[in-house]
Amino acid sequence: MRVLHVVAARPNFMKVAAVFMALKEYDGIEQVLVHTGQHYDFDMSEVFFRQLEIPAPDVNLGVGSDSHARQTAEMMMRLEPVLVERKPDLVLVYGDVNSTLAAALVCSKLLIRVGHVEAGLRSFDRTMPEEINRLLTDQVSDLLFTPSEDGSANLVREGVAQEKVHLVGNVMIDTLVRFLERTLPEPLANLPSRYALLTLHRPSNVDDLTWLRELVETLEAIGRELPIIFPIHPRTRQRLSSCGLLRLESNGLRFLNPLPYLEFLSLQRGASVVITDSGGIQEETTFLHVPCLTMRENTERPITVTEGTNILLGRSCQRLRQELGKILAGEVKAGSVPALWDGHAAERVAEIVRAFL
Ligand code: UD1
Repeated sequence: MRVLHVVAARPNFMKVAAVFMALKEYDGIEQVLVHTGQHYDFDMSEVFFRQLEIPAPDVNLGVGSDSHARQTAEMMMRLEPVLVERKPDLVLVYGDVNSTLAAALVCSKLLIRVGHVEAGLRSFDRTMPEEINRLLTDQVSDLLFTPSEDGSANLVREGVAQEKVHLVGNVMIDTLVRFLERTLPEPLANLPSRYALLTLHRPSNVDDLTWLRELVETLEAIGRELPIIFPIHPRTRQRLSSCGLLRLESNGLRFLNPLPYLEFLSLQRGASVVITDSGGIQEETTFLHVPCLTMRENTERPITVTEGTNILLGRSCQRLRQELGKILAGEVKAGSVPALWDGHAAERVAEIVRAFL
């Protein structure tokens, strides 16, 4: 039996690492890894393969960056002949990036069965490209692996047959658990004892330059009291530099290139607070019991708010200052780790895949 994984972008790599390793335990399953090339910079892709011990992709479609339509279409066109040639019994897709949807659509027309890892998450915000990717991928998937109860409930409400839905827990946390012991005591030179860690890349934050300026100037002011470490996503770097905000010298904000997994995990673990608009980081901080302030109006991961350490701030610098003040005064959400975020989710995926095949 052949399982083909399609991965594309940074947040996919921590997920496939866990599932690939779990499926290796089954002798009768051959695995093929296809990288669409959506992320192609060394520090957005290859360094993760190395650190997470993922085998090199069998096929790289080399698609790269483009508009949503062109990128998605190009992935579909390049993936179709690979699937026709390799004839997988099941294709596994991950998360909510454009490649996830592209692969799911190609498979559904070729009558190849699809499993979606991290199914069912909903922000209920259809202005997000990821929400469209999630909704459509789930509609054409045959196996839907959800990380939490809310994901399963969303799917059943949308009419997905109950028997296709499998609550397995969070495979990204499997990778975190596996690598936690390998975190580095000094991930960066001159790391202050107290610091905030910042990531921003969502279009809602970085494509509106007036808001981006207000946010960065607020963060610079905060950074004079609490140093802020800011590894910058390539799209954010482009926006900051186009409006003159990518300063070489900034008192409180330390601008860095994107960081490898272990360095970033080490920084999360040691941070007083993480400020982000990422999806996965909301989950990782919940697991690590580190306070997380999310600069978004909504989240597809509500369990990180109801059970974890996450607080949604929306687009408000005033709320950012307020909540940060509370955290620094010691008023932090204790938070608990959601059920099945236990480091064994990928084993549950593998067992279900084996039975399915
Ligand atoms: C994508 C995902 C998003 C995910 C994010 C993680 C979609 C719709 N979005 O967003 O859900 O949270 O990945 O990073 O799939 N670029 C580079 N080098 C790279 C990759 C990108 O320089 O290796 C630049 C390109 O100029 C590109 C821009 O970053 O135009 C955005 O890349 P893209 O992959 O389109 O979307 P992300 O913002 O990374």
